[in-house]
Amino acid sequence: MRCRICKKEAVIKVRSFGIALCEEHLVEFCLKRVKEAIKRYQMLKKEEPVLVAISGGKDSFVLWDILDRLGYKTTGLFINLGIKSHSEKALEKVEKFANERALPLEIVDLKEAYGFTIDDVKRKETRTVCAACGMIKRYIMNNFAYSKGFPVLATGHNLNDEVATLLSNVLSWKGGYLARQGPVLPAEGRFVRKIKPLCELTERETAAYAILTGIDFFEERCPYSKGATSIIYKRALNLIEYHSPGTKIRFYREFVKRAKELFKRQEEELKECPNCGYPTTHPPCAFCRLRERMTA
Ligand code: AMP
Ligand code: FES
Ligand code: ZN
Ligand code: ZN
Repeated sequence: MRCRICKKEAVIKVRSFGIALCEEHLVEFCLKRVKEAIKRYQMLKKEEPVLVAISGGKDSFVLWDILDRLGYKTTGLFINLGIKSHSEKALEKVEKFANERALPLEIVDLKEAYGFTIDDVKRKETRTVCAACGMIKRYIMNNFAYSKGFPVLATGHNLNDEVATLLSNVLSWKGGYLARQGPVLPAEGRFVRKIKPLCELTERETAAYAILTGIDFFEERCPYSKGATSIIYKRALNLIEYHSPGTKIRFYREFVKRAKELFKRQEEELKECPNCGYPTTHPPCAFCRLRERMTA
C-alpha cells in the first residue's frame, strides 16, 4: 500500500476517501480537515481566545495540538472529577502535555470548587452517573469560559461521537436535541459558543494522528462508562461504514446542511437560576439541584 501523495509506504487507508497515506501525509490530512471544518462551519476566528476542554484522552490532546499548530490562541481546561485513581492519572498526563509545550492550562477541581465528586454521585444517586457527569462537565466548562471571558469553548468530539449521538437522537426523534446538535452551537446569553473542530475526523484518524505525532495520552476508559449505549451505535455505524464507505460523513454533513433546520426548537423560555445565574427552563438549574443533594 503506497501513499497517494508521495508514493512512500502508507500507514493508513482512509476508506471514506478511498486513499492510503504515509505518516507525514496523514498528519497533513488531519490538519487540513480540521482547518476546513473550522472554515466550513465558521467556528472560530484567529484572534479569538479559545478554551479547549481537555480530558487527557487522545481526542482532546489531538484537538489542542492541532489548534495550536494552526495558530489559534488556546488555553486548556481540565476538570478533576474526583473519580478514584482515574482522575489523578488523567491530570498527570494533561499537566505533562501542557508543560512540554508551554501551553496555558487551567484546572477546576470539582470537590474544591463545588464540594462533591463524581464518586459521591455514584454512591448517592441511582440514575446513571454518566448522564449526571455529562451535565456537570458542560456546566463547569461553560461557566469557566463565560466567567473568564473566553467567547468560545472547543471539545474533542470526533465524527464517530457525533454520528453515534445523531443516530441515537434520530431513532427516538429527539427534536430538541437534534436542533442543538452540530459542529457549532452559537452563543446565547450566558452560554458561550461551543465548537467541535474534530467533527469531520474519524476516531481511527485521530488515533493514528495521536500515535504518529507521539502524543502521550491516557488510554484508560472511565470506570463508569461500561455498558454505555453509545458504544452500540458506534459499532452499528462502523458496520454500515465498512460496507458503504463515506456514510458517516454524508449522514453528518447532510444533517447539518438540510435536516437540522427542521428541528428548530419551539424555545421553552429560559429563566435564571436563583443560585448561580445559569440559564435554565426549570430553576434552580440541574447543576445546583444536584449539588444541593450531594452536599446536604
Ligand atoms: P466525553 O464526554 O468523555 O465523551 O468527552 C467529550 C469531550 O469533553 C472531550 O473530548 C473533552 O473535550 C471534554 N472533556 C471530557 N472530560 C473532560 C474533563 N475531565 N475535563 C475537561 N474536558 C473534558
Ligand atoms: Fe464522567 Fe465517566 S467521565 S462518568
Ligand atoms: Zn506521503
Ligand atoms: Zn444554578
